[in-house]
Amino acid sequence: MKSYISFLLFVACLFGACGRQNVTEVSSPDGHIRLTFDVDDHNRMNYQISVNDTFLVAPSQLGFIAQDGVNLFEGFRVVGTDFSAADETWTQPWGENKTLRNHYNEMAVHLSDAASTKLTLRFRVFNDGVGFRYEYDVADADSILITDDLTAFNIAQDGISWSIPANYETYELLYRTLPISGIDNANTPMTFKAGDVYASIHEAALTDFPEMTLKNTGGCRFKAELAPWPDGIKARISGGNFKTPWRTLQIAPQAVGLINSGLILNLNEPCALETTDWIRPMKYVGVWWGMHLGVESWVINDRHGATTENAKRYIDFAAANNIEAVMYEGWNEGWENWGGTQTFDYTKPYADFDIEEIARYAREKGIEIIGHHETGGNILNYERQLDKAYKWYADMGIHSVKTGYAGGLPGGHNHHGQYNVRHYRKVVETAARYHTTLDVHEPIKDTGIRRTYPNMMTREGARGMEWNAWSDGNPPEHHVMLPFTRLLAGPMDYTPGIFDILYERAKKNPDRKQWNMKDSKDCRINTTLAKQIANWVILYSPLQMAADMIENYEGHPAFQFFRDYDADCDWSEALDGEPGEFVVIVRRAKGKYFLGAATNEEARKVDVKLDFLEKGKAYRAVIYADGEGADWEHNPTSYKIIEKRVEADDILTVDMARGGGQAIYFEPV
Ligand code: NOJ
Ligand code: CA
Repeated sequence: MKSYISFLLFVACLFGACGRQNVTEVSSPDGHIRLTFDVDDHNRMNYQISVNDTFLVAPSQLGFIAQDGVNLFEGFRVVGTDFSAADETWTQPWGENKTLRNHYNEMAVHLSDAASTKLTLRFRVFNDGVGFRYEYDVADADSILITDDLTAFNIAQDGISWSIPANYETYELLYRTLPISGIDNANTPMTFKAGDVYASIHEAALTDFPEMTLKNTGGCRFKAELAPWPDGIKARISGGNFKTPWRTLQIAPQAVGLINSGLILNLNEPCALETTDWIRPMKYVGVWWGMHLGVESWVINDRHGATTENAKRYIDFAAANNIEAVMYEGWNEGWENWGGTQTFDYTKPYADFDIEEIARYAREKGIEIIGHHETGGNILNYERQLDKAYKWYADMGIHSVKTGYAGGLPGGHNHHGQYNVRHYRKVVETAARYHTTLDVHEPIKDTGIRRTYPNMMTREGARGMEWNAWSDGNPPEHHVMLPFTRLLAGPMDYTPGIFDILYERAKKNPDRKQWNMKDSKDCRINTTLAKQIANWVILYSPLQMAADMIENYEGHPAFQFFRDYDADCDWSEALDGEPGEFVVIVRRAKGKYFLGAATNEEARKVDVKLDFLEKGKAYRAVIYADGEGADWEHNPTSYKIIEKRVEADDILTVDMARGGGQAIYFEPV
């Protein structure tokens, strides 16, 4: 160990970090990741990370700046260090994997400054990465006003990266593939490859703090930037005692290792709910896409989507197609104010939406209703009605709600600041009291709080399907970026599965109206049909939507995949892929397997070993593949369905067209 530390010190000198005191280190259980902490000769705290004895993160500063003379970063002395380890398995009511292993070595460095401010830096090193957080105890402080986060991530060498720009209002942005040194700023998860190592910087357990983004400070050096309050303060802490969210680096030798990592969930607190038997994954359809295409409207008029009659039609369709739930948007008063005063009423249905009758009908047919609360960003109006609105739904048997924040926040607050993080938290807790699950659009980024509150099921937080209805759309590479970036944070309600790829039915509709100024009228889906199906598997969501208008599914042979699909998987594995290029993911639910593969603009063949199947068992594989001449640009709807008998020893060649994909359903025979 001693010789290793000397080696690290020698290498650290090369990085200009000589004069280090209190050097202490901890490694991953398998020893290949090492994290070293020190206080340098400027009395600043630093950490660094090596993977297989090569630096991934060069010495990087730790700490915060606060107002009123509160010191959170310099002159700290180590007063003690505790080492501990954990190796446990735990289960969750739903998830990509229902059983997870939490296996790490911990180093808690206890520090103190001249003013008796105490700080514990808690580092946890797993085989799949690192998490650390700050635990401060500032003597006699009534409150602390944080003005800057000094946490740095100095990546030791240049490489390639995949990220969206930093933005405190939205995550609905296109991904960029850039040299690490070419990133100005980025939102997290920010994924990169440096040398042979893939890594992704993010955070876990964001519950009462602003979100962290990354800002380039020169070369491949980054520092944390926090979303501010309107007065410029970044975080407001009451009292002197606080713990920050965990800052995380997922680390893996292959890109798919990042997807298979459970690190974000492992760093969250265990379930806080007394019972979870009321929480279950579901497939759903909804009165939704018609509005985005402009053939229906949210607001009550002669094109109104959420009418009693239409609602029942969707319930009938769900009941006939093995789909558990139906979602309705535009059912309540207030849509006439969307983009204006944003004053929605969450207990007043429009006159043509008889919610009690619809709820009764759904109950009779065994279908759940997913309610909808659009706030337009007016969280004051929402919070005033919060309790009443959730109770009102629950009294009608509606225990699942999609929320939305499409619009600016009041008082100059931004979507991702601490003020709104608190709001999102309040909604999760209120919903839990009414045994209600949530699907949040325009959310705060996922940081794994679903472990603590499993009713926080899914969220948007990236460019979803809607962008294809009224903009240039999401390019073919988008869906093979998401699993390696946004989805590392947690599930996404992308709302996949549009079958009318060129909007042929919508374009024939004389009542279609442009409602979004970004609408180019040449909109379409930029994938093949098979890739739309594959996305149901790839883009994990415990509430998984078949997003098209149901008339586009009726009688379509390929819809059988969604009928067979089970949103309640218990095990998943990303088998192969590269960010922005392709991905292959398999999930198991009740002994059946679902595989999704997708590619970017390039056609490709990928050999997939079926060794995930149970040995000695035969399976009927139903393959939904790109058809003859399929090509996302010129021939997106060509598909074929092939059946095969397969076993665990077999290798399947997954053949994908440009912008295409493949979905496979495996059923034991
Ligand atoms: C944005 C959401 O992402 C979308 O799903 C919803 O239809 C609109 N806001 C209106 O609420
Ligand atoms: Ca959205």
